[in-house]
Amino acid sequence: MELSKITATFKESVIREMTRVANQHPGCINLAQGFPDFPAPESIKQAAIEAIQANINQYAITWGSETLRTAIAKKVAKYNNMKWVDKDLNIVVCCGSTECMISAMKAGVNPGDEVIIFSPFYENYGPDCLLSGATPKYIKLNPPDWTFDFDELENLFTTKTKAIILNTPNNPTGKVFSEKEIKFIADLCIKYDAIAITDEIYEHIIYDNNKHLSIASLDEMQDNSITINSISKTYSLTGWRVGWTIASEKITSEIKKVHDFLTVGAPAPLQEAAAFALSLDYDYYSWLRDFYTKARDTLYNALKETDLQPIKPQGAYYIMTNCEKYMEKHDLKTSTELALYLIKNIGIATVPGSSFYASGKDGETQTRFCFCKKPETLNEAKRKLEKLAI
Ligand SMILES: Cc1ncc(COP(=O)(O)O)c(C=O)c1O
Repeated sequence: MELSKITATFKESVIREMTRVANQHPGCINLAQGFPDFPAPESIKQAAIEAIQANINQYAITWGSETLRTAIAKKVAKYNNMKWVDKDLNIVVCCGSTECMISAMKAGVNPGDEVIIFSPFYENYGPDCLLSGATPKYIKLNPPDWTFDFDELENLFTTKTKAIILNTPNNPTGKVFSEKEIKFIADLCIKYDAIAITDEIYEHIIYDNNKHLSIASLDEMQDNSITINSISKTYSLTGWRVGWTIASEKITSEIKKVHDFLTVGAPAPLQEAAAFALSLDYDYYSWLRDFYTKARDTLYNALKETDLQPIKPQGAYYIMTNCEKYMEKHDLKTSTELALYLIKNIGIATVPGSSFYASGKDGETQTRFCFCKKPETLNEAKRKLEKLAI
């Protein structure tokens, strides 16, 4: 029996594979998968317990509880300068950004369309395109500053281009797209009537003087954007599966339909607790930034002393490294060999660079470390890396 031709082309997640191998090596620190090893804020957990006890345990309104949609509209007006967002017309609450992305693609893209993706990329975007019948087209972010060639991007846009996926702050590079870059992308979207689908789940995890800009805050982009976010990263709640899309009324009504048929709704009591999370004041976001700045610096400084040369991230909680020298010394040929070698010999799990590119050979000298971990975990990683000091 022939099963789906599309899923036959999908590979198993490399991140999960690294986690599996790491678990076979006692004492190995998992800096592969991007989830925190510390508890979520007590007050948010309490809000979920109270919602369950208040009997909010049945289906919420398909496109999201009114409390949460109200909180989302209020928050994006305050932090993202998106004052146009109406809780009833422009928001769909989904099961995490992951469902938001596939719902956005299914709602906006037709088979035969082209979708532009910055490379390296978060691993779901390619499969989401293929599930929508679209053809992914890749534009390279060039290390170490992860800039892209404006002409190359312009040349990729054609009448077939239906969407461009923008992830800022970016996983895996830590790039925060500049205002100039975002305006350039916006101009191309308007010119070709394409949609910018932006994944902004790391918006509050940002360092130094970098600033997050939502493309949907540009007036001309309200009808040509789908903004995606979730509580996973900002509130350390990756297991709750609550996210949302923000788009024009026309696009939103299509996303509502896809979401309804895919999952019906996100967990009802957790939506109430998410609404509470979104109402936290500026102090929380400022604490989060400080916490992750310290975590970034611990790991970055430790890597800097080794042949696993880190590229300092501007946002998100990952560090990409250039390991050419290290690989030469240890006669390692591929990024997967490198990642397995680091698990077995150093006791740290990372994600091979090749898994972030469509053509594996592009990331073969890179590996990605994540640092959404408590100080004890990162200090332990630091001690392990000290053995590699040059
Ligand atoms: C860029 C990016 N988008 C989306 C996700 C998944 O988010 P969610 O938990 O909201 O589905 C991740 C998780 O690592 C990510 O890095």
